[in-house]
Amino acid sequence: MTAIADAAASRGEDPSDADETPPELSFFRDFHPGAADMRADVLEGLSRPQKGIPPKYFYDQRGSALFDRICELDEYYVTRSELSILRRIGPELAAHVGPEANVLEFGSGSSVKIRTVLDALERPYLYVGVDISREHLLAACRDLARDYPDLTVGAICADFTEPFQIPEREFGERWRIGFFPGSTIGNFEPEAAKNVLRAMRAELRPDDSLLIGVDLQKDAARLEAAYDDAEGVTAAFNLNVLTHINRELDGDIPEDAFEHLARYNPDLGRVEMHLRALRDIEFTVAGQRFAMKAGETIHTENSHKYTREGFDALAAEAGFRPLEYWTDAEGLFSVRLMRAV
Ligand code: TRP
Repeated sequence: MTAIADAAASRGEDPSDADETPPELSFFRDFHPGAADMRADVLEGLSRPQKGIPPKYFYDQRGSALFDRICELDEYYVTRSELSILRRIGPELAAHVGPEANVLEFGSGSSVKIRTVLDALERPYLYVGVDISREHLLAACRDLARDYPDLTVGAICADFTEPFQIPEREFGERWRIGFFPGSTIGNFEPEAAKNVLRAMRAELRPDDSLLIGVDLQKDAARLEAAYDDAEGVTAAFNLNVLTHINRELDGDIPEDAFEHLARYNPDLGRVEMHLRALRDIEFTVAGQRFAMKAGETIHTENSHKYTREGFDALAAEAGFRPLEYWTDAEGLFSVRLMRAV
């Protein structure tokens, strides 16, 4: 991409760089946050009394690959439970959504789950994947286009919490279904989660649907194991955010001075992930100096767990009404079909 197009993209404008669309895709829009956004986000987060890094910076290419490995861990029940539900509900889903739907996936990752949705629906018309990790997104969308020759496939590289425009002409008058799997909604604090749901609502019209995966509250031991696996893949994923920052923002954060930490906070109903300094350290990011004491942490992620009613109430405030609620055999995870009001 040219410098001008990159600058336009970082301002959220359509870079209109048609040459960048891979031949398998019908369109590609790149709103990837520019280096300036990342610099501002990270410096602001590291300057707070409780240091923090926005979780979207986990997902560079290595981070996305590590996340795919998390999804296969024994301890990480989330992906397995969600897939078992998606595989079971096909006929009901097809009946609710109807033929020739436009399918819009938020945070599409490696797009394994979407195949169960596409296979369930009757002649889906268009698929649009939205993800912040550009190469990962393009590879997944190309694979889909190849495997579903009758499907029109488009990709949007964007932070889906910010408004992005899907080219209206691509949709036509067909029904739209948003798909937001993986309990990614749980990675936002309730107020922010409401805003994310509102942003998705804005891409839909009244009576369109949203199919969303939401993890459920359960005992702390089970939750903490899911976010701190024996093999250390989750630890590597968490630490990789430092590698990403060092590379993009000319940093020298010593990765070996940190350890991964995952704790369930029952009052807030969330697993909190931190990187804890093992010794006193100093480092530089984008020319700015920072110091941390041994034991001090950088808060990198929250994963909120909901009850059935708790999430329904949140979604209602964002303009969605519950239509169906499904869980897996063990009652660990929920998939909900909601209707845009
Ligand atoms: N949406 C996933 C979740 O909350 C993201 C996730 C899984 C994650 N494992 C993680 C985020 C470990 C940070 C660290 O379950």
